[in-house]
Amino acid sequence: MVRSDHRAAQQIRDVRRRLAVQGPPRTRDRGRDFETVTLPERDCDLLRDLLVSERAETVGLAYASSALAIGEALVIVGLPHPRHVIIDPFQEGVWSNAGWDLLCAAGLDPIATLIPEPSSIALPQLVAGGLTAEAAFVDGSHRFHEVFVDLYFLRTIVRPGGLVVIDDDWTPSVRTAVHYYEQNLGWTAIPDAFAGGTRMPIGGDPRAGSVPRCRALRLPDPSFEPPFEEFCPF
Ligand SMILES: C[S@@+](CC[C@H](N)C(=O)[O-])C[C@H]1O[C@@H](n2cnc3c(N)ncnc32)[C@H](O)[C@@H]1O
Repeated sequence: MVRSDHRAAQQIRDVRRRLAVQGPPRTRDRGRDFETVTLPERDCDLLRDLLVSERAETVGLAYASSALAIGEALVIVGLPHPRHVIIDPFQEGVWSNAGWDLLCAAGLDPIATLIPEPSSIALPQLVAGGLTAEAAFVDGSHRFHEVFVDLYFLRTIVRPGGLVVIDDDWTPSVRTAVHYYEQNLGWTAIPDAFAGGTRMPIGGDPRAGSVPRCRALRLPDPSFEPPFEEFCPF
C-alpha cells in the first residue's frame, strides 16, 4: 500500500517535477514528442487539485504526467485502499514503458494496474467485473467513436455525481463526443476547474476562440436513461 503521508506525496512531486523539467527517460524518435503528447504541468496540478476531493481511473498513459498527478491526489486524500486503473495498449510497444517506469519511480505501482488493451476492450470488461470509480481522466485515442465509447462505459463505472475529466477538449472529435453526454445525459461542465490551465484554439484554428484544453464534467445524480424520443442533436 502507498504511504498516505507527506513523504509519499513528496516522492511523487519530485518525479513529476523532474519529468516536467528534464522530460522522460526515453521518447519516441520525433521532435518535441514529450511536449506535444503529455499533459502540461500546470494542467496536471489543476487535475490533482480537482481530484483531491474525488478519486481515479485513467485512459491513456503515455509519459504519465497526468497519471502521476492523479496518483499524487490519491496519496493526498489518503483513503485506506486507493486504486488507480490505467489503460494503454501501446505503453510497452510505442512508449517503451516510459510512463510505467515513472509511476514505479514515484512509488505508485502498488496501487496502479495497467491494462494493455484498447479502452474499447478494457472498459466493458471492467464494467462486467463490477468496477466503480469516483472519477476518470480520459486522454486515450482521440477518434470521435473511441472517445464516445470511452464515455459510454465510464458512465457506468463512475458513480452518479462523480467526475469525468477530458483532455484535448479543443479537438472537434473530442468536443463533439463530450457534447452528446452534456446535451442528452445530463453531464454538466464544472466551469472554472481548468480556468487557470492551458488554453487551446478550437480545432487548432488560431482565428477561432480558445478554450481550456481540459474539461471537467459532473455526472448526474441519480443517473437516468432518457427516452429515445427526447434525443437532442449535438
Ligand atoms: C496523448 S497520450 C496521453 C498523454 C498522457 N495523458 C500524459 O500526460 O503523458 C494518449 C495515450 O492514449 C493511448 N491510446 C491510444 N489509443 C488508445 C486506446 N484505443 N485505448 C486506450 N489508450 C489509447 C496512447 O498509447 C497514449 O498513451
